[in-house]
Amino acid sequence: MRAPFLAYNARSHALTPGPSPGGRGEKGRRRSPKPQAEDDAHAHLSHSSSSFGNEEVALIPRCAFVYLSFRFADPPWSPSRGLPVEPAYFVHESAYVDPPCEIGEGTKIWHFSHIMPNCTLGKRCILGQNVVVSPNVVLGNNVKIQNNVSLYTGLVVEDDAFLGPSCVFTNIGNPRSEIVRRHLYEKTLVRRGATIGANATIVCGTTIGRFAFIGAGAVVTKDVPDYALVIGVPARQAGWMSRHGYRLPAPDAEGIMKCPQTGWRYREAEKGKLACLDHSEDMPLPAV
Ligand SMILES: CC(C)(COP(=O)(O)OP(=O)(O)OC[C@H]1O[C@@H](n2cnc3c(N)ncnc32)[C@H](O)[C@@H]1OP(=O)(O)O)[C@@H](O)C(=O)NCCC(=O)NCCS
Repeated sequence: MRAPFLAYNARSHALTPGPSPGGRGEKGRRRSPKPQAEDDAHAHLSHSSSSFGNEEVALIPRCAFVYLSFRFADPPWSPSRGLPVEPAYFVHESAYVDPPCEIGEGTKIWHFSHIMPNCTLGKRCILGQNVVVSPNVVLGNNVKIQNNVSLYTGLVVEDDAFLGPSCVFTNIGNPRSEIVRRHLYEKTLVRRGATIGANATIVCGTTIGRFAFIGAGAVVTKDVPDYALVIGVPARQAGWMSRHGYRLPAPDAEGIMKCPQTGWRYREAEKGKLACLDHSEDMPLPAV
């Protein structure tokens, strides 16, 4: 039969099947004699300690170890069964999630990241190292955030957006340390499937259109249309980028631009408004 307790040795960090805290195991030694019935009851309620040879060890009920083996942002109890359950998302042990937050299934939060209260993170998002998400930020599904990105209150990021390493968002246009402007946070919207290049800066109050592409190091000061490629400081449109991330060639006689990778056709419905003729912007990419 499996030992009901695990012995944790603080010196070696070893976990081994342990004796019962009542001292009935092979080498177990009672630290303070207690009546048998009281001892048994105590054993089911709290940790105890004993020694193996001359090593001090803590005896942990096996069920408690299962609980302690994982680090959860939320209490891992299943209300229906009273058993520990693994949450559907992953938080690295060096990261913090301040409750309350809503985090979708399959999302991964990596080293030294910090999610502040009242954030909503969708499903299957990846937050790399050292990502800070300020209160009330909303992320859709499948948002990928590279290292060292700070997302400030007022930001909404839609599904499938890609935020490159060290890109910068702002939320106050005219910050002054002496003046509190917390109520003046401006809204910034990164729309579905958009890419923000490494080190780009997005000045607050702007909307980055669907599948827009912000080149590395660009400083975005005004709205970016769907599929537009913008580069430079300040960012200017340099062309169009396909949904698959390829620069679109010049339009043909009918105004159609074909993605060199997929052949999908794009056309400006009106000046400055590009749409894909072969796949709706609202639909996810077909599974390959
Ligand atoms: C904007 C970008 C998509 C352009 O790629 P491209 O179409 O292959 O462009 P090219 O490399 O052919 O360069 C074309 C011209 O644009 C310039 N250029 C390219 N990227 C630029 C940028 N980010 N900012 C300013 N100018 C840029 C090039 O210097 C070149 O100029 P030239 O014609 O005077 O020589 C790409 O450079 C970029 O910034 N990608 C983002 C990468 C990134 O941040 N990834 C994050 C995840 S790691």
